[in-house]
Amino acid sequence: MIILRDVTRTYRLGSRQVRALDRVTLTVAEGEFVAVVGPSGSGKSTLLHVISGIDRPESGEVLVAGTAIAQRSENDLARWRGQTVGIVFQFFQLLPTLTAVENVALPMELRGDSGGDYRNRARRLLAQVGMSARVDHLPSELSGGEQQRVAIARAIANRPSLLLADEPTGNLDADSGAEVLSLIRQLHSRGMTVVLVTHDPRIAAQAERVVHIFNGRIVERH
Ligand SMILES: Nc1ncnc2c1ncn2[C@@H]1O[C@H](COP(=O)(O)OP(=O)(O)OP(=O)(O)O)[C@@H](O)[C@H]1O
Ligand SMILES: [Mg+2]
Repeated sequence: MIILRDVTRTYRLGSRQVRALDRVTLTVAEGEFVAVVGPSGSGKSTLLHVISGIDRPESGEVLVAGTAIAQRSENDLARWRGQTVGIVFQFFQLLPTLTAVENVALPMELRGDSGGDYRNRARRLLAQVGMSARVDHLPSELSGGEQQRVAIARAIANRPSLLLADEPTGNLDADSGAEVLSLIRQLHSRGMTVVLVTHDPRIAAQAERVVHIFNGRIVERH
């Protein structure tokens, strides 16, 4: 599902260079559930951005679900992402002027698949993440944990084959964190490939494989 070969991504800040990913090579099989752990600033979010094609490395190869990211235009990638990849961002990135149900329905509307009835499907997804009572709230009227749950519902709206989740339980209390994790495990058991970034070793322990990242470099342990 995911093949990264020798991927390097360097950020330049004035004269300073930060090597966020340093010759990263990683393979994730279809249907696998992989956790990525590592200290703050080690490159975890950058890794997810590179896998989803939101960010492009300056060298190396990125192949995701048969798509060579480097060979696709931005428009092409955006369409591909909308169909294939669900992303839960570290800082939610919900649209502030849309309600919870509108945020979740948006990817379905953008894809425009048949069946319609996006609002009702969005409501059902929100019910799955325990947000039935908040469907008409704006993000600014939701707590961090509630926004996170809306972001998860939005990420799975188009039933992506790959779910990338950046600290999806980072803003949740223990109970809602456990619920979100069990939802992710359910999706995985139905065949979804999952890459989950977390600081929490107890959450990482629930994945099939844990990938450690330090200073932009991957160290795998089994
Ligand atoms: N847009 C950017 N411009 C400059 N430097 C960046 C940018 N994005 C990330 N970096 C740097 O790249 C490195 C990796 O960042 P990244 O966000 O991937 O870390 P992370 O592992 O997700 O950290 P955290 O656990 O705090 O979210 C950091 O040193 C960060 O400062
Ligand atoms: Mg991060």
